[in-house]
Amino acid sequence: AGAGRGAGGSEEVDPSLTPPSLLWPEFERDPYPLYRRLREEFPVVRDEPLDAWLVSRYVDVRAALSDPRFTSRNYGWQLAPMFGRTVLQMEGREHAAHRSFLTPAFRGRALTWLRAAIERTAADLVADLAARARRGGGVVDLVDGFCHRLPIAVVVTALGLPVADAPLFQEWYEAGFSYLSNYRQDPALLERGLSSRDELYAYLAPYVARRRVAPGRDLLSVLCTAEVDGAPLPDDMVMGFCGMLLGAGGETTDKGLRSLLANLLDHPEALAAVRADPGGLAGAWVETLRRDPPVQVVLRQTGEAVDLPSGRVPGGATVACLVGAAGRDPDRFADPDRFDASRLADEPDRQFTAAAGHLSFGAGRHFCLGSQLARAEAEIGVRTLLAALPRLRWADGFRPRFGGLLTRAPEELLISLR
Ligand code: HEM
Repeated sequence: AGAGRGAGGSEEVDPSLTPPSLLWPEFERDPYPLYRRLREEFPVVRDEPLDAWLVSRYVDVRAALSDPRFTSRNYGWQLAPMFGRTVLQMEGREHAAHRSFLTPAFRGRALTWLRAAIERTAADLVADLAARARRGGGVVDLVDGFCHRLPIAVVVTALGLPVADAPLFQEWYEAGFSYLSNYRQDPALLERGLSSRDELYAYLAPYVARRRVAPGRDLLSVLCTAEVDGAPLPDDMVMGFCGMLLGAGGETTDKGLRSLLANLLDHPEALAAVRADPGGLAGAWVETLRRDPPVQVVLRQTGEAVDLPSGRVPGGATVACLVGAAGRDPDRFADPDRFDASRLADEPDRQFTAAAGHLSFGAGRHFCLGSQLARAEAEIGVRTLLAALPRLRWADGFRPRFGGLLTRAPEELLISLR
């Protein structure tokens, strides 16, 4: 990887004849026109510079994610060197065993307990935001003040670690995320990522030791007491899972909250509707996930060649399933660029299964374990925010600018509270 237009090869490439490459800088600015070209002209195609196959139509993305011949064993370019083998990269029996002890930790009583934590954290963050707005002329950034902080605080709470340490996790997460999204292999980011991983593990080690002998009900205790084939999970696997969660639960939900808020602020009638009836947030959330998925690309590999509805992927290929392109496929969603909070209004309760209408939590055996938790963060978090900030609107002249390739969301959300 690394050749192509982004690296200065534009004179050799006629973009009108060449399938778009994910390494083109246009993808980070606005992928949707390129996704359309891919769906229409190159639905299953090799991305030469990236050395991967791109799959963009809804029907193909869904088929690939649901088919075990598309495996996750080498998931992500950077995940294994960072956190070892996590549930994201497991398949078969090992994957099923991990899902079976992890799933209850994200459902039922655990979720009820976490909902209370979401409410408290959101209220604290909003009070802080309002105080900062009073000091700073009424304009604040919802990314920095809210979206970025709530999901990490929730992950830390779920693990049963002190929420006062959330700022430390915030730093590790930022370094770790720069590492994981570093598909151009910048060595400085790699080094910073690995040293932040070492700091995270040094922090976690005494907690892991304590949970081994005196477990509680938190997720860290679940990991410390789980057994697979009669053996406990080794420490590095427990800690690798915690590290992976900062991205899987933090980064994703952060970006989802940003896009939800941007969509509401951009559609005053939708904002007024959810103010009048916060129950409508569920529909606005799923519609945001469809139209502006936080995770744009889900990676797989093939062992053998596999035929998808629109074409063949050869064996031994890395496959980028373009969830962001699938959510805007007009063959699946009419007028797909339009934000319509009622479009999937009957979907929210199906979003916890692979039968959901959108693919933004994946599909099939790796379907997101945290989808209900993320929904709770969106519903409770945004309801709390809106209730406390009745005058919330864009700061004068501000327009959100979306950015990011593997994950995507507005970079800033400058709002006025006056
Ligand atoms: C898996 C998206 C929130 C934990 C996934 C996958 C996607 C996804 C696309 C499937 C990956 C694949 O098939 O390879 C999202 C989005 C979220 C979100 C868009 C928020 C809007 C969360 C939260 C947590 C979480 C809050 C936990 C705190 C996980 C885990 C997996 C996963 C552990 C791995 C499941 C497996 O491989 O079997 N997520 N996620 N996610 N997610 Fe989420």
